[in-house]
Amino acid sequence: MAAPRRNVELKARDPRPERSLERALALGAEDRGELRQRDTYFATPTGRLKLREQEPGGAELIAYVRADAAQARESRYRIAPVDYPAALREALDAALGTTVVVDKRRRLLVWDGVRIHLDRVEGLGAFVELEGVAAEDSDLAREADLVARLRGELGIADDAIEATGYADLLGTGDAATDDDAGAEDLLRAADAVMRRAHAPYSNFPVGAALRTADGAIHAAANVENAAYPQGQCAEASAIGVMVAAGSREITEVAVVAEQLDICPPCGGCRQRLSEFARADTPVHLGRPGGPRRTVTLGELLPLGFGPEAVG
Ligand code: THU
Repeated sequence: MAAPRRNVELKARDPRPERSLERALALGAEDRGELRQRDTYFATPTGRLKLREQEPGGAELIAYVRADAAQARESRYRIAPVDYPAALREALDAALGTTVVVDKRRRLLVWDGVRIHLDRVEGLGAFVELEGVAAEDSDLAREADLVARLRGELGIADDAIEATGYADLLGTGDAATDDDAGAEDLLRAADAVMRRAHAPYSNFPVGAALRTADGAIHAAANVENAAYPQGQCAEASAIGVMVAAGSREITEVAVVAEQLDICPPCGGCRQRLSEFARADTPVHLGRPGGPRRTVTLGELLPLGFGPEAVG
């Protein structure tokens, strides 16, 4: 498989988009005009997947991995052109579920290989995004340097920088004001990954999804073994995925099982979750679209033995 493409990205809220445009033009950035973009994000167990429908221009499917951090960060991505976007959108929605749709108008400029996006995002407001597109063998130092210089020229303040993407910003906004949307997102991710369970012995596929403090979702399924005791629960797998992604603070949990409307986590997994969550962390048990029962980890594990006991 070909290596993914890479870039160095910085995203920030833009209190003065007109000034950013003026400054970019004054630097000699090439103005490529305004685009209308509609990105549909699908529930995936790892990384992110979005279908971009763009006017002018066609549609493309973009798979990418990017850490959440309030600084310039590397993104690894693959882009596939799409001829029939509506059909693909419906197929992916049916198979994986849609998590969020992001509509925006983008003014695109290019300065010394760095793409400057002046975005007006529906429901979120104005942002400036810098993308230093990397050459294949680059160690990213040059791209990081160009992004840093451009950031200085455009006067992007530290506290304006966003750690996550538009999809997460819209998602966390929802979760803050609407518990239901947050639970549904997580249940969809758990349901999607449940379909990848390796459960040939019990025939009891389970998916677990964990939201972390940065708004990201980490999901995984149960993995069984011919030597039965070596099998691993979905929650344990998801914790591994989360820790591998560099996160440790679980703010919300969802568990979905194929054969049970409400699948309570086993005792061992309640303990595993408590290592990274709090007594008031919500745990959604159910299916996307219902039925659902939301309890707290404290209700599932009263008088639990937590890290504070040995700290
Ligand atoms: N299982 C989970 O993945 N999570 C739980 O909390 C309950 C049980 C899995 C383990 C095993 O692969 C199958 O369900 C049947 O016990």
